[in-house]
Amino acid sequence: MQSYSLIAPGKINLYLEIIGDRPDGFHELVMILQSIELADHINIKANDIQAITLHCHHPQVPKDETNLAYRAAQLMCQTFPEVYANYGGIDITITKNIPVAAGLAGGSTDAAAVLVGIDLMWGLGLTQPELQELGAKLGSDVPFCIAGGTAIATGRGETLDPIKDLDNLWVILAKYRNISVSTPWAYQAYRQNYSNKYVSDPENIEIRRELVNSGALVNAITNQNSREIGKLLYNDLEKVVLPKYPLVAQVKSAFASAGVLGTMMSGSGPTVFALCESESQAKTIAREVRSATTQRLSFAETADPNLDFWVTKLSSSGIQLQGRD
Ligand code: C5P
Repeated sequence: MQSYSLIAPGKINLYLEIIGDRPDGFHELVMILQSIELADHINIKANDIQAITLHCHHPQVPKDETNLAYRAAQLMCQTFPEVYANYGGIDITITKNIPVAAGLAGGSTDAAAVLVGIDLMWGLGLTQPELQELGAKLGSDVPFCIAGGTAIATGRGETLDPIKDLDNLWVILAKYRNISVSTPWAYQAYRQNYSNKYVSDPENIEIRRELVNSGALVNAITNQNSREIGKLLYNDLEKVVLPKYPLVAQVKSAFASAGVLGTMMSGSGPTVFALCESESQAKTIAREVRSATTQRLSFAETADPNLDFWVTKLSSSGIQLQGRD
């Protein structure tokens, strides 16, 4: 039986506006989502034990049904029981490169790759919208991760409207190893503080969506105006996450002072990203910010060992098949 290797890119949020409540308990959002080249690698192959197994060396990645990638395989087995009975179980191996619980859709993109990989392995021939419909049952970001690129995401985040690809800019990601933010906590904290501003009637929701659709950031992306893009980044969740995690706010200020195009927290954080014109600029600024965010250890000032940096590029790709053997 063949095995399938897939590339599963992460994402950043160039824009995240919380509009209001939804009847399903989620939030009504308007976002602009952007794929990045930093990616996990997923391998899918059939086994003959009629069970799902998940292997990953990363200590923070669960190997059971609490992992969204595992649930993606379960969903395929439940949706296509006869094919599952015919092909046997599934072995999933994840090589983790995207930081975990970081606001970069690492779990969602692994799940997206599992859906795409099983579709290929079982020869189901599902269309991208069919795969995205299955993905939406797993999590709000999974449909975007399947398609990738640059897109306006509305509803829970699962309704996508692709816009012009933005893949010419570089991005620095900075995340404290010892800080992770729970997404449900971030939305709940936002609700507690700002639900008085929520809009719930369909007409007003539509007006807010339109404002983003025809808004300045989408125009800047369409015109590939990197300076404007940098200035117009936005994320409502910063209002609750940054006050609780001052170190994250400090990294953002350090990026801003270093003269990047723009800097913002991604999703519910705690990763802060900074847009740059070139790879060399991104590498230089990452080094500067590393030494600007020092901590005092005994008598010496040293770069904080818990603050990790990645330099990557914006990407126009979602899940890609890398090979089969
Ligand atoms: O869909 P996903 O599993 O990524 O969502 C994680 C959590 O984030 C949800 O359980 C919910 O608490 C919150 N969320 C939300 N509104 C959204 C997306 C996520 O409240 N549109």
